[in-house]
Parts: sequence; structure tokens; C-alpha cells
Amino acid sequence: MEIIHVSAECYPMAKVGGLADVVGALPKYLQTQGHIAKVVMPMYRTKFLYENEWEVVHKGNFSMEKMNFDFTIIKEKENKLGFDLYCVDINGLLDREKVYGYDDDTERFVAFQISVLEWLNKWEHLPDVVHVHDHHAALIPFMIHECFAYRKLKNIPTVLTIHNAQYQGWMGWEKAAYLPAWNTWKWGMLDWRNLLNPLACGIKSADAVNTVSPGYMLELMDDANGLENLFQAESFKCTGIINGIDYKVWNPLADTFILDNFSVKDFTEGKALNKKKLCDDFELDKTLPLFIFIGRLVQDKAADLLADAINNALNQYQGKLNFLILGSGDPEIENELMVLQNKFVGYYNSQITYNEKLSHLMYAGADFLLMPSRVEPCGLNQLYAMRYGTVPVVRRTGGLKDTVKDIDEENGYGLCFDYASLTDIDISIKRALELFQDKKKMKAIRKKMMEIDNSWIASAQQYINLYNSVQNK
Ligand code: GLC
Repeated sequence: MEIIHVSAECYPMAKVGGLADVVGALPKYLQTQGHIAKVVMPMYRTKFLYENEWEVVHKGNFSMEKMNFDFTIIKEKENKLGFDLYCVDINGLLDREKVYGYDDDTERFVAFQISVLEWLNKWEHLPDVVHVHDHHAALIPFMIHECFAYRKLKNIPTVLTIHNAQYQGWMGWEKAAYLPAWNTWKWGMLDWRNLLNPLACGIKSADAVNTVSPGYMLELMDDANGLENLFQAESFKCTGIINGIDYKVWNPLADTFILDNFSVKDFTEGKALNKKKLCDDFELDKTLPLFIFIGRLVQDKAADLLADAINNALNQYQGKLNFLILGSGDPEIENELMVLQNKFVGYYNSQITYNEKLSHLMYAGADFLLMPSRVEPCGLNQLYAMRYGTVPVVRRTGGLKDTVKDIDEENGYGLCFDYASLTDIDISIKRALELFQDKKKMKAIRKKMMEIDNSWIASAQQYINLYNSVQNK
């Protein structure tokens, strides 16, 4: 089978969140299973772009209302990712430093999607499946079916994966004029509550829709930022497939980003050495349990609770624990977390930035990873943590609920709580401190977590089954 993934992010070319990790890994595993998987994404001005060689594979042009665009499709020459990576270059529109956050993001991602279809329209053969990710690519199933120019593509089966339904790409109806001439009888497919809603349109138009965990799909039926009724109505084609993690990138035995490599057979010393490095670098106490948070500092991740939660814990359990934070996002949250630094010197530190390398060292050296997320479609950080013997402390939601079992349950290995609240976080920190005292139990739990298979193998197979099902429809 030949599958083409369309996405705004793909690690290591461009990463903002977990979407990039998934799009950088799943195709690799599909290839290993004997399929052809390709990724097409916008060309941003990232380090990866400049450090690699590219060849031009296609040039074209199109107009969006009154704007004319020339676009170029380039391909990474050496197949470094284990699959073909293509980027769409549109001068002045896509070739920017950041992935998102510009006033013209709507125009950028609509133009990106049109470019992809213009290119596919020129292929001599057709791919077996077009797999689109999140709202930035979610207009493609509709355009394939309803734009007159793409009649040739009409029968290609489409799959939409939703990594986060909070973001839907809403735009005013006047922007419908951006789409290449389409069958206006079908305007209802684009509409959701008087706005043009790309995510809703993708859910209506794709042959299959999945989220990145079964638990999150169930939650969306009740709470989906306005799309609950739509998920209910389309439930016959909706499933949940849990993400895997890339065992080639996330392997404590071979990870070049950490100080000392280790495996499930000998993790005690390895983890201690990595912890010492972290604690030395960030002026923390290596004899105390080390709690970390890694991620985007936004409401969805309940990062707004962190400063108060840490303040409480460091006051209440003085001299008994350390915290280290890595992330960036909401400037107000960033500021709160930076201010704490002066208050708890020696027990708290933060790096308000995105730093892939440091994140690996943190998973390797920490004892507990805190994830109080309000919304967590899958969550990859808890999976990375477990692979590196770090105990996840998570709120029971979405994918966190599906992947972490509390130590009080049979065969449990994590700490779980119900509410994104200061009280629940506090109780969980207390439980973690107790667990940390029980050296034997802590060691057994680390071992158990490291032995869990969260690789992509099983999940890639579920995607293959999904592709087969849309082909036979
Ligand atoms: C989004 C979700 C996260 C998920 C990731 C990859 O970033 O918020 O929960 O793990 O996508 O699917």
C-alpha cells in the first residue's frame, strides 16, 4: 500500500508538540511493515531544512481568490527519516521560522493543502490512501471529493487523525472563496454553526476518523469543544488508536542526548548518573526525589496550576523534593514559573524554552513526571518517561487514562488522580514521596514500566487495518 501523510509538523523537520513525533514515527513503522509511506508538510525555515540536501520534484501554481501563488515541492535527498519527506515551499507564505502563530495562518494552511492536491493531481499513479492530520490538513478529504479540478483524485480513500480536537481551524465563510471551484450544493459539509470549520469538515468528509487513544474518542462524544453532536452522528466511522513511541529515538540504551546509557537490566546506576548531571546543571539536590514537568505551558496541560502546586509542595514538604520544569507557551504562566526560581533556590528550577535534548536527559534522570492535563488526547511524555524508568503522575483523562495504571491497582505502575486541581496534585505528590521512600517498590515499578511495550508496532498494525477497511468500502 502507498500512504501519503499530510501534516503541519513532522519530527525532526519541525516540532511544536506530539503531532510531530507521531508523523515522524508512524510512516517509518509502516515502511518496516512493507508499505510505502510518504510525508508532505510545509517548508519552514528550520535547522533541519538547512542541514540537509533537497531536490525539487515539482513546481506549480494556483490562485486563491485574487492571490496567485507559485509553489515548489522539494524532497529530502537521502531518506534520512526512513521514508520520503516532501515539503511545500511557497515563497513568503510558508517559509517562515515558526510553524504557527501568524495572522495569516488560515491562508498559509489553505494554500498548503491546495498545493498538495495540485501536486497529487499531476502524479501518474494515485496513492492508496491519503492520511491527513489535524485541522491544518482536514479540508483535503472535502476538496478531493468536491473540487471540480480534482475529479481524478475523487476515489482515493481518506483517513483523518485528530491529535487534538480543541483546535478546529475556524474561519469566516468569506474564506470559502479560497477553495478551488467546488460543488456549492455541498456547502453544509464545510459548515459548523455558521463558521467554516475545517476539523468538522474533515470529520464529515473523511472515510475514517480516529483520535490518538480510545479513551479520548469516548470523551469527545460528550465534550469536544462544540463538536459533540458531530462525533455522535459520525461515530460509525470513528475509532481510537493509541500512539506508540519511536523506539529508535527513545531508547535509554542508545540515546546520545543523555549522559549515561542504561537498560532495564541495569538502570539504577544509569539513572543516578543522569540525575546527578541534571541536579548539578540546575543546582538541585540529587539525594531528593526529582519531579519534572515537560510540555507546552498552556491551559490544556493545566500548566496554569503548576506554580501554585509547586509553591504548596515546596512549602509543605520543605527539603524533601526538587522540581524542574521545561516548556514554553503562555507568557503569564512562563512568568509565574520563572518567578518561583528566586523563592526556592536549590529546590526548583525552570527552563522556559523548547529543548529536545534536555528533555531526554530529564526523562532519564527524573523520578516522577507530572502531567495534570485537562485535555490529553494521547500524551507521549508519560510513555517516554516510563521507557526511561520515570514514574508518571497523571490525571485520569484521554490517553493518560488508557496508558497509566495506578500502583493501587493490580500490576499498577503509576500515580493517577481525577481532577486537575491543587488538592489532587498535592495528594499525588504526597503519595509519590511515600513511594520514593520504599526503595524496593520503586525499583520494581521502574522495572515494570521499562518492560512495557509501547512501541509503534501494534499501533501501526491498527492503522494498516484501518487503511484496509477504507479501501474495501
Ligand atoms: C497532541 C495531543 C497529545 C498527543 C499528540 C500526538 O499534541 O495534545 O495528547 O499525544 O498530539 O498525537
